[in-house]
Amino acid sequence: MMNIFDFNKKKAAGEKLTMVTCYDYTSAQLVNKSEIDCILVGDSLAMTMHGFPSTVHATVDMMAMHTAAVARGAKDKFIVGDLPFLAYRKSLTENVNAVQAIMQAGAHAVKLEGASGNTGFIQHLADSGVPVMGHIGLTPQFVHLLGGYHVQGKTDESAKRLMEEAYALQQAGCFSLVLECVPTELATQITKELKVATIGIGAGPNTDGQVLVFQDLLGLNTDFKPKFVKKFMNGADLVTAALDDYHNAVTTGAFPDAEHSFGSKKLAKTA
Ligand code: KIV
Repeated sequence: MMNIFDFNKKKAAGEKLTMVTCYDYTSAQLVNKSEIDCILVGDSLAMTMHGFPSTVHATVDMMAMHTAAVARGAKDKFIVGDLPFLAYRKSLTENVNAVQAIMQAGAHAVKLEGASGNTGFIQHLADSGVPVMGHIGLTPQFVHLLGGYHVQGKTDESAKRLMEEAYALQQAGCFSLVLECVPTELATQITKELKVATIGIGAGPNTDGQVLVFQDLLGLNTDFKPKFVKKFMNGADLVTAALDDYHNAVTTGAFPDAEHSFGSKKLAKTA
């Protein structure tokens, strides 16, 4: 299993890092068998697993429960657990309790969104033995403040702000940063300037690594088609076809057949 130092080792060696979100035991077993470097139990689970309209609906209990399921299935992977909406904007005790719940559920690091107001807490976590991944650019927990899901850092002013946030998070002790939906040139510059590894999603080809949502890359989510997602299989069609095959086999009497049924000695007549 990789550890936080491997993020920087890979960056230094020019080797790309691969990360995928994962939320449940069965999927975690599949990711565990793959060559993917690490797993994010993202708060996107509020949408992909629970059908909510945004990540604002994720809670610490949800995050801890899904992290525990993933940790049981992916014993060989480095797991980052998201701190959900507002869970790190309360009292120090409540913030630390949220982190404790996610780390004790099986995460090896936590991720939180934004820099402003978070650097003191990140420093506190780093001093307490908790590795922190930062997340800037399009930060979905800010969807209502951002007025929707838009590419960030397009103007000189917002690009400068993102660069400052990246430096602030590195300085606070983040071992790595997610850059979400930022122009390629800006992501490239942040990646070049920072010592810590950057993981992109909608940030172009030059970040130190990439992350995608499990359901998106497997084409399971037919409603969501952002520019940055590539479907590596057409999962929705494959799964629906298999379900229809099953339905047809049952309704035509082709399944269950003898091969899938249990034999027994002939029963004696009961009457
Ligand atoms: O929750 C999530 O899936 C994420 C990734 C999109 C980076 O934060």
